[in-house]
Amino acid sequence: MKIMLSLAMALWFTLANLTAGFGAEAIKLPSPAKKGAVSVEEALQNRRSTKRFGNRSLDLAQISQLLWAADGINNPQGKRTAPSGRAAYPIDLYLVAGERGVNGLAPGVYRYLVADHALEPVAKGEFRKAVAQACNSQVWIGEAPAILVITGDIKRSEAKNGDQGTLFTHLEAGFIGQNIFLQAGTLGLGAGVAGGFKDKPLAQALKLPQADIPFLVMPVGHKQ
Ligand SMILES: Cc1cc2nc3c(=O)[nH]c(=O)nc-3n(C[C@H](O)[C@H](O)[C@H](O)COP(=O)(O)O)c2cc1C
Repeated sequence: MKIMLSLAMALWFTLANLTAGFGAEAIKLPSPAKKGAVSVEEALQNRRSTKRFGNRSLDLAQISQLLWAADGINNPQGKRTAPSGRAAYPIDLYLVAGERGVNGLAPGVYRYLVADHALEPVAKGEFRKAVAQACNSQVWIGEAPAILVITGDIKRSEAKNGDQGTLFTHLEAGFIGQNIFLQAGTLGLGAGVAGGFKDKPLAQALKLPQADIPFLVMPVGHKQ
């Protein structure tokens, strides 16, 4: 009986570690700035993909700013920085924070809770290598302190946009990706983009719900 109990405890402990983060409280992000020193023209003029990142960690304020710019709420009706066909909002954003990647944030996978401007812990641990591997082993992706992943649930868009749901979801991912590029630029950070990945391994690495398809992987960090 005692052995059975010990085995059950060991199994529970292993499962708890593997799924650490599930059920944990959401992490409120600092309020994003609504004014900046760099003009949109300058950000456009300087936009470039970065594939070489320095070792410096990012701050939670920078992550907050990037996520808000990507698809955060910018009006009292809950509308967002990126447009959405019939306001279906099929896109979800994930953050993969590396070990010492983001000050004040344990390494792991987090989902951006748009309405609360908060992060929901999905899985605790170092997942950058798994993400890089799923991206056809593009090493540079795992070298960024943090990785943003734009995913989408096409059915959410189809419910409002019918046959155009797939197209509209892809288009929305594009708007959000450019928002991330421009905000990274104004923060003096670098961002890259990768569409070269295998859907299933990437979805597994991020513990995505079945309905969510990954569209774009965007490593962010200080430029080397
Ligand atoms: C949809 C899409 C997918 C991309 N996938 C990758 C990728 O998997 N790996 C990569 O290194 N760059 C990728 N890129 C980045 C392009 O190579 C890059 O944007 C292009 O070389 C132009 O450079 P720039 O972004 O610095 O202007 C992708 C870009 C887009 C728009």
